[in-house]
Amino acid sequence: MRILGIESSCDETAAAVVENGTTVLSSIVASQLSTHAKYGGVVPELASREHLRAIVPVVRLALEESGTALPELDAVAVTEGPGLVGALLVGITYAKALCFARNIPLIAVNHIEGHIFAVMMDAAREGEGIDFPAVALVVSGGHTHLFEVLEGFRYRLLGRTRDDAAGEAFDKVAKLLGFGYPGGPVIDRLAEFGNPRAVRFTSPKMKGNPLDFSFSGLKTAVLHWFEARDMAEEVEARRRLLSRTLTPTTKEWLAVTPKETLDLLASFQRTVVDELLRRARVTGEQTGANALIISGGVACNSGLRQAAAQAGFPYPVYFPTPKLATDNAAMIAAAAFPKYERGEFAGMSLKARANLALA
Ligand code: KG4
Ligand code: ZN
Repeated sequence: MRILGIESSCDETAAAVVENGTTVLSSIVASQLSTHAKYGGVVPELASREHLRAIVPVVRLALEESGTALPELDAVAVTEGPGLVGALLVGITYAKALCFARNIPLIAVNHIEGHIFAVMMDAAREGEGIDFPAVALVVSGGHTHLFEVLEGFRYRLLGRTRDDAAGEAFDKVAKLLGFGYPGGPVIDRLAEFGNPRAVRFTSPKMKGNPLDFSFSGLKTAVLHWFEARDMAEEVEARRRLLSRTLTPTTKEWLAVTPKETLDLLASFQRTVVDELLRRARVTGEQTGANALIISGGVACNSGLRQAAAQAGFPYPVYFPTPKLATDNAAMIAAAAFPKYERGEFAGMSLKARANLALA
């Protein structure tokens, strides 16, 4: 039983073939990083254009690598939303055409559910099904959500960011300080060279739902820290470095980053990690969770992984393998499998939904 997954919600064109919802036969991700990096973030129009260019070769490669001929496909799963409308539309249109031509079912998948399935797929393959109810913390460039995950893949949204997503905060801080885009991976690598207790940031008081997040105050605090210093020279040195190479090595970054800035990065990362894990813990207590799933691009963060391992949660904590943490299509195909079994198919009228909610 083979499902082709297609993902094009943001700046990655991805296709994958997954067997029986758990075995990844191929997973191809064409990143548009070099297109957007010089703008310091994703430019929607450019993203759509790049998806159009990439979709055919990416799908072809996914089929080839998995050794799957078109007639062997049982269904096509595609990201319906949330995401950039123009970008989503490329994947959806392609998936519809393929299903129409092959006369196979089309399955619509919520991108956020995909991120959760990136973890469930690993656990299921290892025969170690996750014990529900679980808490899922989905942290990426676009989302910071806390869900309760119930038996039968039902979700209850318990907390979300009121402003920036956690990954967005990483990206904005990196951009301000001249570390380029995306910021998460660079800050992650450099944070280990700084003192995470050097700069103290105050935790926001959330009125209303205490499980909601807010990262805009932290971002502003970093901005004030930045404005109180004369950093023009070091920022310029980093921009020069980035104009020579898109992906500087840690050594190259360290050569243009003073200790005080490394301390700031480490303190910023620690604060984000603390905020995430604190709310995940409370959610777990309130719902009587048996597991914690942490997923999305920010789940690659080594500080978050270490802190989660040391936090003494009274239940297992699951992270995706790093390759499945950031956007990919294997997670979309995996999330589609239970829908296939339930016969939950989308029609040819499927539309891109920029703000699609999971719960
Ligand atoms: O899941 P993803 O690929 O795309 C979205 O759905 O948004 O997540 C991308 C986000 C970016 O904001 C990036 O900076 C962040 O994940 N990210 C990280 C790390 N790797 C990626 N953030 C912190 N530490 C990392 N190692
Ligand atoms: Zn994502």
